[in-house]
Amino acid sequence: MRLRLLLCAVCCGLVSAERYKPDWKSLDARPLPKWYDEAKFGLFVHWGVFSVPAFGSEWFWWYWQGALEPAYIAFMLKNYPPGFTYAEFAPQFNAQFFQPDAWAEVFEASGAKYVVFTTKHHEGFTNWGSPTSWNWNSVDNGPHRDLVGELGTAIRNRSLHYGLYHSLYEWFNPLYLKDKASGFKTQEFVYRKTLPELMDLVKRYKPDLIWSDGDWEAPDTYWNSTEFLAWLYNDSPVKDVIVVNDRWGNGTYCKHGGYYNCADKYTPSTMPKHKWEKCNSIDRISWGYRRNMKLSDLMDVPTIIKDLVFTVAYGGNYLLNIGPTSDGMIPTIFEEHLRGVGAWLKVNGEAIYATTPWRVPTENATVPVWYTSKGSTVYAIFHTKPTQYSFVLSSPVTSDTTVVTLLGSTEPLKWAPLHSSGLIMLLPELPFSTAGAWAIKLTGVA
Ligand SMILES: *[C@@H]1O[C@H](CO)[C@@H](O)[C@H](O)[C@H]1NC(C)=O
Ligand SMILES: *[C@@H]1O[C@H](CO)[C@@H](O)[C@H](O)[C@H]1NC(C)=O
Ligand SMILES: *[C@@H]1O[C@H](CO)[C@@H](O)[C@H](O)[C@H]1NC(C)=O
Ligand SMILES: *[C@@H]1O[C@H](CO)[C@@H](O)[C@H](O)[C@H]1NC(C)=O
Repeated sequence: MRLRLLLCAVCCGLVSAERYKPDWKSLDARPLPKWYDEAKFGLFVHWGVFSVPAFGSEWFWWYWQGALEPAYIAFMLKNYPPGFTYAEFAPQFNAQFFQPDAWAEVFEASGAKYVVFTTKHHEGFTNWGSPTSWNWNSVDNGPHRDLVGELGTAIRNRSLHYGLYHSLYEWFNPLYLKDKASGFKTQEFVYRKTLPELMDLVKRYKPDLIWSDGDWEAPDTYWNSTEFLAWLYNDSPVKDVIVVNDRWGNGTYCKHGGYYNCADKYTPSTMPKHKWEKCNSIDRISWGYRRNMKLSDLMDVPTIIKDLVFTVAYGGNYLLNIGPTSDGMIPTIFEEHLRGVGAWLKVNGEAIYATTPWRVPTENATVPVWYTSKGSTVYAIFHTKPTQYSFVLSSPVTSDTTVVTLLGSTEPLKWAPLHSSGLIMLLPELPFSTAGAWAIKLTGVA
């Protein structure tokens, strides 16, 4: 009798521990699947009807007809016939040169371990054949292709994780506007559009990650976010691998969900307590492709590497964005930058992937360095070429077994401990690096 009671208590305990309740307390307690933290580096791809005007930013429609920005109104007056509507851009989203494996090859060469693709931005156009997006989807209109499916197949074929960006709201959807006019007391848009599409995406494409966005106008209770996440974590086909971000309703970001994005391009100044991700765009001004982009608007490779290293040293993942053209090409300057990041990671990736932040994230020694670690191995990454060969690190505590090397070379470096902590070493001639960054590996340090 007592044994049976005990067994029941154990089993029931296990069952209830495994099921998540549709409230933040329960959902927030779910451990993040391990693959995500180990991946460290992902790519973000913004592609949609906004890639056709390719002017200003992916918020084109909103700036033109929502915010009534003069520059956008003038652009339309000058270049399009009177009465031209945003919907008329969709047939020109032709994706005629889109070769999913050619993209996936570039993504793999960048060293990224996951790719997050816009399935639907705030304009509402779905990059897959959504049954609830009549004629405003990439199968019935524009490319006449299942972009989400084709890209997913190519990305997985190269062993990268596949993430889906999804905007909860749609600027001009009449159902959404009706709910908004009710003060979000009605949820017609959520029941007829948002939730069916989210479930469709999950069931069809079995994503590893959902990057939710467009949440801020309404509370999470309007979006039924906790109910959706409870289904996702308990019963969906991806319940064991799925990772989500934190944009699930006004006020949830930096507070609830899986990992935290907080604001776009979030740059903390102290070590965050929760797993986070910095998303940033090579084109500083836009996430979507812009034909009026200038070289000086772009981050260069050393800037990207510096941002990646800072992010990883502070425990984050780095999600780097590119915008392809409407005909399906990755602009060559983006491709060059991605390959440049990948070339650096090929040599120095062990200082990035699957590392954990070290007790000291950064210090100014001979030059500024950022630290990462794996057990008793510590990596010191720097972006400034020192002017002399003797090089000091102040924080590592060495031992008799300490070995110091420069990543990319197997030759151990000569070093000597300094009085309390730290060491001085003799650097070799640093190899040329277009990325402008080098990493020193120290084993057997504390
Ligand atoms: C899968 O990846 C390999 C390279 O790893 C490539 O040669 C092949 O074309 C890809 N197949 C598809 C269907 O993308
Ligand atoms: C969002 O939440 C904040 C408080 O967290 C509130 O001040 C603001 O009015 C809300 N905005 C909307 C659009 O609901
Ligand atoms: C949405 O949330 C409400 C309130 O919790 C719940 O009654 C309803 O069943 C939910 N609907 C869906 C489709 O999850
Ligand atoms: C290193 O020096 C820079 C430039 O003076 C400064 O901004 C930064 O805070 C310093 N870092 C540390 C860890 O002291």
